Amino acid sequence: VTKRVALLRKVWDLPNAPEDEVCPEVVFAGRSNVGKSSLVNMLLNRTALAPTSARPGKTKTMDFFDVNSGHPALPRFRLVDVPGLGFARVSRDLRDRWIGLIGGYFVQRKSLKIVFHLLDAGLCEIMPADRELWRLLAQAKRTDYELCVVLTKADNTIPSQLQRFAKIVREALRQEGSELALHATIFACSSKSKLGKDTLWRKIWSAVGG
Ligand code: GTP
Ligand code: MG
Repeated sequence: VTKRVALLRKVWDLPNAPEDEVCPEVVFAGRSNVGKSSLVNMLLNRTALAPTSARPGKTKTMDFFDVNSGHPALPRFRLVDVPGLGFARVSRDLRDRWIGLIGGYFVQRKSLKIVFHLLDAGLCEIMPADRELWRLLAQAKRTDYELCVVLTKADNTIPSQLQRFAKIVREALRQEGSELALHATIFACSSKSKLGKDTLWRKIWSAVGG
């Protein structure tokens, strides 16, 4: 564990990242292809602001989307889209770099207010890459942001399955045992049907001072 944190610190290097502590940020993380970029687009009423693809491994950089920066009367904040975890068809180097970026961001970014962890509701399963994300969060040892698990692609499932999955996730978070995991909120959403959009916005809004 100690070794992994050292690696994160070493790899953490975001020369083009916008300055920290300018405005609050919320990040959308999770497995490759789970629908992170689609969710950013859905929330911002755009179709292709964050590029998406049916093939995993589309997002290759950490992308910061400024919201309200042109509206002095409204709270300014950022939505952050990141590369997916667990995508097998990238080199080990690149995979380590992405884990380093995301883990380093969890450790160091002071502006971070919410980590949205997306899980595919259609799959109804927690994968090793999801546990890797929880491990990164536990290693960051921070409690000044919160974890929200988003069961996405809810349009691909039926309510009873969604409820079953929510129970599985709750139990897995309990076993994970970290402060963040124990206090995590669970939402359902769909970027396709826009289910959960208002709830997600309320959550974001309350975290960014709206
Ligand atoms: P990476 O950037 O590769 O990590 O993927 P990502 O997590 O950003 O996923 P992306 O938004 O690119 O979406 C992956 C695929 O899932 C695309 O084909 C989307 O159209 C599809 N998708 C995303 N959200 C939903 C949803 O809510 N419902 C359905 N049915 N499909 C979705
Ligand atoms: Mg993406």
